[in-house]
Amino acid sequence: MSGTPNSFWLPEAASTTAAQHDAGWSLVLWISAFFFVLVVGLMSYFVIRYRRRSETEIPDAPDHNTRLEIVWTLIPVAIVVVLFAVGFKGFLKGTIAPADSMEIFVTAERWMWTFTYPNGATSVNELRVPLGRPVKLVMSSKDVIHSFYVPEFRLKKDVVPNSYTTAWFEPTQVGEMTVTCTEYCGAGHSAMLAKLQVMPEKEFRDWLDAGGEEKGVSPEKAGEKLAMKLACATCHSTDGSAKTGPTWKGLYNHPTELADGTTVTADENYLRESITDPNKKVVKGFQPVMPAFKGLVTQKQLDALIAYLKSLK
Ligand code: CUA
Repeated sequence: MSGTPNSFWLPEAASTTAAQHDAGWSLVLWISAFFFVLVVGLMSYFVIRYRRRSETEIPDAPDHNTRLEIVWTLIPVAIVVVLFAVGFKGFLKGTIAPADSMEIFVTAERWMWTFTYPNGATSVNELRVPLGRPVKLVMSSKDVIHSFYVPEFRLKKDVVPNSYTTAWFEPTQVGEMTVTCTEYCGAGHSAMLAKLQVMPEKEFRDWLDAGGEEKGVSPEKAGEKLAMKLACATCHSTDGSAKTGPTWKGLYNHPTELADGTTVTADENYLRESITDPNKKVVKGFQPVMPAFKGLVTQKQLDALIAYLKSLK
């Protein structure tokens, strides 16, 4: 990428959240540096100041000092509280994607990355994103654990099989970066790279409209078709009415009460489990009669079904 490095230690910062991460990192660094100098300095001074001056000298046996102990307990506690507050704020910001994010499905497998865009376009080992727009990644692995890492975004998230993990970023400058896998996943791990290209919005649109690498139907449309093929409508309505199973209308991201009295949010992972292993969490008022689709639908089909479910607001 062009531009100057963010600091002596850190790679260039190219996302809206990077500065906050760097601030937290610098805070820890400078607090540690300050106390390192203080402790080593005092230690050196005391070694000289309180050295034994003669063979016969008997040193004072120091008793405890309550005031001193309170001070050296309260100062670290205050520092820990501040570091927690700074870290937690950054954690929340990094965890919750803005509502207007563009969603891209990420599939990791040994040893490649596949990206599926909202219009169904896909690209392999190349992720293109528009400048100045939040992007939410919904990620899953076909085999072992991988990890999605872009240093310039200060973004790293594990990509695991049989579950979705999400991450988001908003690029702040046009350019080219590299996505690396940061979880050892076998012989090809170090070569599991993807090019990340941040493009001006207009250029990105043109590329996307041209179908990316491969023209396709959108995950949402593919999911609708698949739901028809699997005859989901026998038991699930899309208009809010209850059939043998709960309706799909307005299901996504809403609280759902289960038969055991607990309440879950119908997020991507809940929807996935309810397709692959439906009787694990049965919705209150319904019988556990749905067949499990584990092994019967592929990762890509799951992505599609979930995209379709999310569209039924
Ligand atoms: Cu994938 Cu390491």
